[in-house]
Amino acid sequence: MLLAILEISNFTFSYPRSPQPALKDINLRVAKGEFIGITGPTGAGKSTLASCLNGIIPHFQGGTAQGQISLQGSSIFERSTAQISRVVGSVFQDPEAQIICTEVEQELAFGLENLGFEPAEIERRIAVALDMVGITALRYWPTVALSGGQKQRVAIAAALAMLPEILVLDEPTSELDPMGTEDIFRVLTKLNQEYGITVIIIEQKTEHLAAHAGRIVILHNGEIAMDGEPWQVFSQQEALAAIGVRIPQVAQLARMLGGNSKETLPLTVEEGRRFLERMLRR
Ligand SMILES: Nc1ncnc2c1ncn2[C@@H]1O[C@H](COP(=O)(O)OP(=O)(O)O)[C@@H](O)[C@H]1O
Ligand SMILES: [Mg+2]
Repeated sequence: MLLAILEISNFTFSYPRSPQPALKDINLRVAKGEFIGITGPTGAGKSTLASCLNGIIPHFQGGTAQGQISLQGSSIFERSTAQISRVVGSVFQDPEAQIICTEVEQELAFGLENLGFEPAEIERRIAVALDMVGITALRYWPTVALSGGQKQRVAIAAALAMLPEILVLDEPTSELDPMGTEDIFRVLTKLNQEYGITVIIIEQKTEHLAAHAGRIVILHNGEIAMDGEPWQVFSQQEALAAIGVRIPQVAQLARMLGGNSKETLPLTVEEGRRFLERMLRR
């Protein structure tokens, strides 16, 4: 694999006074430019893992950790949250909770001002970040006037204003309908493909993950249960059902009709359509 931008090695983490570790012996190597979808049932440790990548653990949350997480080749635990935020941008589940300013522009300026950037650099980065996410028109909007999907785009733009190498998103579409969700995934795909940003998204909506991510990681009971290309992971339907992970519907249908390899297992609606056409022609 190419140079790892992020490498988690034999990492175990326990919350204070918790008998069971929330993460157990995690090994995950992420190359620059990957688009990784992480999924798994509630309580699997997904948010804990996200907190380890943005510095909430150990800076704001106690507990005991073993093993190593290295970011661009050096330990993440030796960096402040401000240093981490220049490399790892974070977006969370609830857009209400992460938007703190009354106007979109201020929201994007906030983190940059805290890091002491010059006004001209702040101006440049705000314009770039708004453009990357496609919300230049919302620049002077009051944040209360935004829809849920617009709020999540603003949260993504605020993270991008720091020009991070990696974007970590923890269930960013849980408040959004299927169209709003697809819209966010399209933005992430563009950021990944056009700007080379490494995307790590925690998401329960496996349909969208299958269509956009290049790699799927399944977390279960604090451990990595599966790690592979979408077709490799989503073809293991019995194992996923036992873990409690929803399988994309097109993949379910294809399995019923006998598809199970990379060539035949469709993961998007378009692939599903072509798969059905092939089956019907036989
Ligand atoms: N602040 C905390 N203190 C103690 N235990 C926690 C805390 N946050 C999460 N946990 C526990 O850690 C485990 C993993 O939780 P979490 O990372 O939130 O899972 P997920 O995001 O996959 O639903 C769960 O058993 C949960 O109860
Ligand atoms: Mg969670």
